[in-house]
Amino acid sequence: MTDAPRPLVAGNWKMNALRAEGLALARDLAARVSAAAELACEVLVCPPATMLAEIGAALKDSVILLGAQDCHASAGGAHTGDISAEMLADAGCAFVIVGHSERRTNHGETDVAVRAKAEAAHRAGLAAIICIGETDAERDAGETLEVVTRQLAGSLPEGVSAGNTVIAYEPVWAIGSGRTPTREEVAEVHAHIRAALGRGLGTAAAGLRILYGGSVNPANAAELLSVENVDGALVGTASLEAEDFWRIIQGCA
Ligand code: PGA
Repeated sequence: MTDAPRPLVAGNWKMNALRAEGLALARDLAARVSAAAELACEVLVCPPATMLAEIGAALKDSVILLGAQDCHASAGGAHTGDISAEMLADAGCAFVIVGHSERRTNHGETDVAVRAKAEAAHRAGLAAIICIGETDAERDAGETLEVVTRQLAGSLPEGVSAGNTVIAYEPVWAIGSGRTPTREEVAEVHAHIRAALGRGLGTAAAGLRILYGGSVNPANAAELLSVENVDGALVGTASLEAEDFWRIIQGCA
């Protein structure tokens, strides 16, 4: 496809690393990126909130983008322990992940809640990475396409554009498990998501990035990234090692 969007490789550090490790990882990546002649993709790191500002400062001369892992739907107020999208923007973020399956499972986040968070991201000028994906049981029951259709319909706010939204298809059973869907399975779901976006957004859907996530590693990245309608990767475990994440970035053709 000639007008395929520029891929995005995003590292979701989850609740890992203390500041010294995070800074070392960010600096190592920045050095690799700046030494490279050309990058075939955009690169994003999503560290824990405690180190966002510091990592942002360390990356200020780098093309590596900064993102957060979650936000609250409100701009401010009595929400102990929560962080607003405006605060994330203020800390230097350009992106925020919303609706990750660990948030949906561990914090009971529904599609309605995810949609409100994506709206908050847009309000604050952040791009939202909206995560969707089926569980093992749902795949076994043949419900994968139905589940992602329902999650998309429920989680996408009004005003979605290629500039303010990225979709991440992450089969829950593939996250952190070392198991990945086949090329054909990834292609089927991504084509389905592209078509569903097209029904809602018209031609704008073609430019919207759909990332694959779930056990992406240096050995499988190039293959997964070459699947049609896969416009990048959301990487957990393998984003915590600079060498592994760098090799995944290089998997973008
Ligand atoms: P994983 O995590 O790469 O460790 O499977 C991916 C994610 O949860 O975004």
